[in-house]
Amino acid sequence: MYSQGLTDAKGQEEPADLLAEFQAKIDREEKIEPRDWMPMAYRKTLIRQMSQHAHSEIVGQLPEGNWITRAPTLNRKMILLAKVQDEAGHGLYIYSATETLGVSRDQLTDELLTGKAKYSSIFNYPTPSWADMGAIGWLVDGAAIMNQVPLCRCSYGPYARSMVRICKEESFHQRQGYEIMTVLARGTQAQKDMAQRALNRTWWPSLMMFGPSDKNSTHSAQSMKWKIKRFSNDELRQKFIDATVPQAEHLGLTIPDPDLKWNEETGHYDHGEINWDELFQVIKGNGPCNKERLQARIDAHENGEWVREAAQTYQQKQNNQHNEAA
Ligand SMILES: [Fe+2]
Ligand SMILES: [Fe+2]
Repeated sequence: MYSQGLTDAKGQEEPADLLAEFQAKIDREEKIEPRDWMPMAYRKTLIRQMSQHAHSEIVGQLPEGNWITRAPTLNRKMILLAKVQDEAGHGLYIYSATETLGVSRDQLTDELLTGKAKYSSIFNYPTPSWADMGAIGWLVDGAAIMNQVPLCRCSYGPYARSMVRICKEESFHQRQGYEIMTVLARGTQAQKDMAQRALNRTWWPSLMMFGPSDKNSTHSAQSMKWKIKRFSNDELRQKFIDATVPQAEHLGLTIPDPDLKWNEETGHYDHGEINWDELFQVIKGNGPCNKERLQARIDAHENGEWVREAAQTYQQKQNNQHNEAA
């Protein structure tokens, strides 16, 4: 755990006047840019959060990649392919934004491949049917939007700006997922059952995407003060539930939570207890697909080595030519 104003990288105490000016700038809603002074703990928090986010975009391609070759029509295949390519783009924007904090892409990749860095636990679940493509777009991208829209106002400029375009694309992803669910829910009984099973599989893991409850969230208070976060995990989870329940009703599908009910007094839906033990197990590496996902990334990295080598050789050649000409 880091806290603001302890020590910098060399173990020196951070100057109080710089810390005060930094916080004042954030309080004035001004962006912090890469060359600005920032406390070491702010930098580390952002590197952790942004790299986890980038890794999630990249690993998040895998559950849906499974269905690109199995999509039911050419049209569905084109849409899914475009969606998965968007996710690759999101990963690349966010890796670039993270590099502005002084960490290299190679280092970030290494941390993912050695299991040191985390990514969103939702991507460690399997996608056994086409309806999972619908449920993921609708719920997982839907939850991502809830998380990411407030990040457009994050205090760190490069992260906030990368979120603007990403959120526009996420909204297309959410709608394409909901549209898949709409078609299935209005189809044959077998299709409707397939949609219901996908909702049953995805509902609880998508609620876990908002992270531990506020009582157990280690990073929340400081991140709120720094305006990296604008809402707590539980607030965002509640917003997501309130927005999603009517969408499920419209589809004629049942959310797999017997305790879910509208609360007149609070103006929100009450929901059943989340199985936090499951979340922590998946984070620890014991989810249904953790090993498979990581292995797929390791294989992709190894198989791509010749591309990186060729790019470096080409760059070297360009540099030599440039030097000869000079
Ligand atoms: Fe994305
Ligand atoms: Fe997405």
